[in-house]
Amino acid sequence: MAKIAPSLLSADFTRLADEMQRLSAANVEVLHLDVMDAHFVPNLTFGYSLVKALRPLGTDMVFDVHLMMTNPLSYIDKFCQAGADILTVHVECDDDIRACLEAIKKNGVKAGLSVKPKTPASAVLPYLDMLDYVLVMTVEPGFGGQSMIYECLDKINELKALGREDMLIAVDGGVNANNCTDVSSRGADILVAGNAVFGAPDMTAAFAELSEKVR
Ligand code: DX5
Ligand code: ZN
Repeated sequence: MAKIAPSLLSADFTRLADEMQRLSAANVEVLHLDVMDAHFVPNLTFGYSLVKALRPLGTDMVFDVHLMMTNPLSYIDKFCQAGADILTVHVECDDDIRACLEAIKKNGVKAGLSVKPKTPASAVLPYLDMLDYVLVMTVEPGFGGQSMIYECLDKINELKALGREDMLIAVDGGVNANNCTDVSSRGADILVAGNAVFGAPDMTAAFAELSEKVR
């Protein structure tokens, strides 16, 4: 059974407290938070202060924080202290990956690695002993609302074949009602969905529909 993780990037930033309330009322279990540094990706979002501010508004939710940063290492403690439950860095970043994963785990937070569309799934293999989570990007990171690059889905099968049942596999980018069943049937545990949830006329109904399809 897979879970849909709404991506806050597509929420209405002028009323985030209301959005958190709506997500909570819709029984959202995992909330995806995209941090962009305007260097690793050509976009800039928010930092750990926002994660900290939202934390009391979603006490029951798993905060799945996705760091699209060239140098995440020196910010890891801050994001963990702000309330991340899962913290993900990119395998393509410039910092030492093992040092990043160690820093995350030292905080008692689940450690994740993300792979961009052109990066092979095998890039995570040297770190398997430390990984709780792999986030497979199915769009070029930086923006919500893009179309899924379907070829990337083969990485789910490759990662599943490793037999690490305790390592969660997430898919991020272009998930919608037409493709979510394919994604979940390949074995993904978490499907991030921004536009498909927040862009729908009825966010609660869209979340329920997607969740039902991947159940
Ligand atoms: C893209 C982000 C995604 C994004 C997904 O760089 O990592 O989490 O919010 O949005 P949709 O579901 O609209 O593709
Ligand atoms: Zn993301």
